[in-house]
Amino acid sequence: MFDNISGRYDALNRILSMGIDIRWRNRVMREVARQAPNNLLDVATGTGDLVLALAKVVPGPLVGLDLSPGMLEKGKQKVQRSRFHARIEMMVGDSENLPFESDSFDAVSVAFGVRNFENLEAGLAEMQRVTRPGGMVYVLEFSKPKNRLFSKVYLTYFKHVLPRLGKLISGDASAYTYLPESVQAFPDGDAFLACLHEAGYKEGRSIPLTGGIATLYVAKK
Ligand SMILES: C[S@@+](CC[C@H](N)C(=O)[O-])C[C@H]1O[C@@H](n2cnc3c(N)ncnc32)[C@H](O)[C@@H]1O
Repeated sequence: MFDNISGRYDALNRILSMGIDIRWRNRVMREVARQAPNNLLDVATGTGDLVLALAKVVPGPLVGLDLSPGMLEKGKQKVQRSRFHARIEMMVGDSENLPFESDSFDAVSVAFGVRNFENLEAGLAEMQRVTRPGGMVYVLEFSKPKNRLFSKVYLTYFKHVLPRLGKLISGDASAYTYLPESVQAFPDGDAFLACLHEAGYKEGRSIPLTGGIATLYVAKK
């Protein structure tokens, strides 16, 4: 599915989120800057927007890893054009079976990726394994807004307008129908913090963004 939409993925992100996704990634960047990790792994990196943003605040090596060669190819091109190309390595790989030694990274990040894991438990356990003790995990993911009125307006857009626009621009009917369905079915807030704790992370906290449309989860190994 992601190989199919990779060509238009970035443009769709900007249009469908009305540019808000950039603000969300910048919020992750500010949070990562507070910990000042020296190296970082971004799983489900896709076209690399998060790893490129985080390179501004991580001084050492960064790795972007994704299952989809199509998404990754776009990301590689963007990394090559960036001033960070010498520090960012982009590789095809599975978050549920990471090709790294345990305790390798000061920080592990993922944006809009965990919801797509086939096995969430296995994916989080692998992310935890490669995080060094005392290192941090940053998960940016869609969530369900709590305010009833805002939720009604937002869900009308998310369930009815977004899939049509997504289909029109990407030419893929399934991808943007799958998006609202997968968000509805995915644990958010305290339920997702419980998944992080289950995976072995501690001191988890959640930061709702834009009325809870998305949430940034931060936890420590
Ligand atoms: C919605 S995109 C997010 C991309 C990027 N992080 C962003 O914020 O734009 C989800 C990505 O997760 C990747 N993905 C899904 N399951 C994966 C897995 N098990 N291992 C690695 N990547 C995976 C997909 O290939 C896709 O590129």
